Amino acid sequence: MKGKTALISGVTGQDGAYLAKLLLDHGYRVIGGARRSAERTYWRLEKIGVVDKVEIVDFDLLDYSNMYSVIEKYKPDEIYNLGAQSFVGTSFRQPLSTIQTNGISVCMLLDIIKNFFPKTKIYQASTSEMFGAVREMPQSEKTPFNPVSPYGCAKLLAHNMMEIYRDSYDIFACCGILFNHESALRGDEFVTKKITNYVRDVRDNKVSKPLELGNLNAERDWGFAGDYVKAMYMMMQVSKPDTYVVGSGKKYSIRDFVEMAFHSIGVCVGWEGEGKEEIGRNVNTGEILVVVNEKFYRPNEVDVLLANPKKAYDWLKWKPEYDIADLVSAMVDDRVF
Ligand code: NAP
Ligand code: GDD
Repeated sequence: MKGKTALISGVTGQDGAYLAKLLLDHGYRVIGGARRSAERTYWRLEKIGVVDKVEIVDFDLLDYSNMYSVIEKYKPDEIYNLGAQSFVGTSFRQPLSTIQTNGISVCMLLDIIKNFFPKTKIYQASTSEMFGAVREMPQSEKTPFNPVSPYGCAKLLAHNMMEIYRDSYDIFACCGILFNHESALRGDEFVTKKITNYVRDVRDNKVSKPLELGNLNAERDWGFAGDYVKAMYMMMQVSKPDTYVVGSGKKYSIRDFVEMAFHSIGVCVGWEGEGKEEIGRNVNTGEILVVVNEKFYRPNEVDVLLANPKKAYDWLKWKPEYDIADLVSAMVDDRVF
C-alpha cells in the first residue's frame, strides 16, 4: 500500500523539525515547506537527524500561486500548517505582516483546499495566545477568546476560518490550541531558551553580566515540543476533525522557570526588589544573576495561561510524557530528545 504524503509548512522551525521526524518514523513521505531567504538554515532538521529525509520545497505562506503549485504537484494527504511569524513581541512592531502570514495565509490555504483538493486534511497551529486576557481558568475548547496581541488576533482569524470551513464545506480541518511548548530547538528569543542558554553559560563560566528579562510575573503552561507534535498527528488520524486544547495543566511564572533552570546546575536564586527594580542573586555568592530591563516588556501582556487538556486526554488518549524538570534540564544541556 502506498504510504501517505504530508506537507509541513514552516518545516525549518522547532515544531517542523519534531513533526517531520515523527511523520518519517510513521512511514510518511514528508514534503517540507520553507520560504526563501538569503541564508536558509536547516540546523534543526540536522540536529534532529532528518535533513536528508525531508524533501524541502519553496513554500511561502504569502504567495497563493506558490502554495497552489506545491499542493498540486505533491497532492499531500495531510497538510500541517506550522509556518508563522511566531514571536508575540514582534507582532506589535509588525502587525500587518503578522496578520498576513498568520491569518490571511490560512484563508488562502483553505480556499485552495475547498476549491481544488477537498479530500486533503489540514492541521492549523492555533495557540493559547488567543485566550489573551483570559476569561476562565483553566482554559478549555469552550473558553471565550480575548486576544491582546496582533499575533493572537491573527491566529484567531485563522482559527475561526478553519472552523467555518470545517462546518460549511465538510473539510477535514483540525485545530490544535497548543500552549507553550519548548525544547533545545526553540528559537533563542523565547524566554525559556534565553534563560536556559544563560544558565548553561553560567555553568560553563562564560558570562560576565546578568541576564536581562522583562515581566517576571507572567505565568505559562509549558510542555515539551516532542510531546505536542504527537497531539497534532493524533488529531489528524481520528475519524472526525475537531479542535483540541493541548497543554500540561500546570503553570509556572517566569521567576519560577529561572529558579528551576538555576537549580538544575546547583545554584539557588534569591529575589530582591519589585517590578522593574527586581533582581535575582546567587544566594551563596551574592552575585547578581538576573535584572529586569523594560525593553523586554510588551505593550500588552498575557498574564497567565493554563490549559484544561481533558478533551485531548479523553478523546485522543494523548498525554505528555515529559514534565517541566525533564524539559529544563534538556534545555540547559542543549540536548535534543
Ligand atoms: P518557529 O520555530 O518560529 O517556526 C516558525 C516557522 O514558520 C519557521 O520555519 C519560519 O521560517 C516559518 N515561516 C515564517 N514566515 C513564513 C512564511 N511567510 N512562509 C512560510 N514559512 C514561514 O515556531 P514553532 O515554535 O515551531 O511553532 C510552530 C507553529 O505553532 C507556529 O505557527 C506557532 O505560531 C504555533 N504555536 C507555537 C507554540 C509554541 O509554544 N511553540 C504554541 C502555540 C502555537 P523561517 O525559518 O524562514 O523563519
Ligand atoms: N521572549 C521573552 N523575553 N519573554 C519574556 C522575557 C524576555 O526577556 N521576559 C519576560 N518574558 C515573558 C513574556 O512577556 C511572556 O509573558 C512570557 O515571558 C513568555 O514569552 P515567550 O517565551 O516569548 O512566549 P509567548 O508566551 O509570548 O509566546 C509563545 O507561546 C505562544 C503560546 O502561548 C510563542 O511560542 C507563540 O508562538 C505561541 O503561540
